[in-house]
Amino acid sequence: MHLTMKDEILQRFLKANGEPISGQQLADDFQVSRTAIWKHMQTLQQEGYEFETIKKRGYQLLSVPDKVDVGQLKQLLQTDRYGQTIHYFDKVDSTQLVAHELVRAGAKDGTIVIAEHQTTGRGRMLREWESTKGKGIWMTIIIRPTIPPHQAPQFTLVAAVAIINAMKAMFKNFTPEIKWPNDILINGKKTTGILTEMIAEADQVQALLIGIGINVNQQIADFPDELQSIATSVSIGEGEQVDRVQLVAHVLQFLENYSDHYVKHGFQFIKELWEQSSGTLGKQVKATSLREVVEGEAIRITENGVLEIRQANGEIKGVYSADIEILD
Ligand code: BTN
Repeated sequence: MHLTMKDEILQRFLKANGEPISGQQLADDFQVSRTAIWKHMQTLQQEGYEFETIKKRGYQLLSVPDKVDVGQLKQLLQTDRYGQTIHYFDKVDSTQLVAHELVRAGAKDGTIVIAEHQTTGRGRMLREWESTKGKGIWMTIIIRPTIPPHQAPQFTLVAAVAIINAMKAMFKNFTPEIKWPNDILINGKKTTGILTEMIAEADQVQALLIGIGINVNQQIADFPDELQSIATSVSIGEGEQVDRVQLVAHVLQFLENYSDHYVKHGFQFIKELWEQSSGTLGKQVKATSLREVVEGEAIRITENGVLEIRQANGEIKGVYSADIEILD
């Protein structure tokens, strides 16, 4: 992966674990002048990294800014493709919109768009998605799987199980659950939404744009009044501040593994993972779609990711896209 010299200098400091590094040492290692190193140090400080200059020993990294730091992310990532190209923004309208432009420009499989803040974040069913600055993960991943268009909805479930298992690997104080099709709940409240958009020809997907919104470090007062009773964050669930860069790296790693597994071996394994983490199956639910309201017991998901509901009269109905309310 190509890192800029500034990123490489940052990596050196992150790996040094608080030990000072001299400007001369860096100048020698990178074969540039000390002035060039000093300029990069200035830029890092403008980006929010705090350094102390220790006489005769050099610069010591004191703190990193609370932002999704691309240098740190690159250092953590062990993926082959996902996150190997990163488009990072302090503010965008929506990472989905940026990703659409990148797809048109030929972006590679695994390219990500990530922002600290979205002014017009988009949710499913044309809703707005609240994207508080610096508190969440607002990210779109461009995936170019060799699958026909009708399999695209399964990929949303691939993303859901990747996020769930990334959370399970990192956090011990809560058990995240999936609410069909792809909301992730902590203690019954929504922490994550997934919006999958597709660009396809008749028989082949060109690109999937998997938009992931994870509420990470919000406290309840950070949510608008109307969301306070239904939304939560990973930090509220875990009871401590969460490292967003680590979470992004985990999500990308699980997503790459599961996507590759799915493309090679099919849906069965993903379906099993989904069922293990489902907070919907076996429950009484009310599914409201544009066409109808279906009430009954959620009994299973099909190979196509369709939720089947057994109504009180015994009739089983498949639901393709709906809002689900869990009744018991
Ligand atoms: C939902 O309605 O549950 C889906 C929400 C998806 C939000 C994410 S945040 C990153 C990406 N950019 C957007 O504008 N939306 C998705």
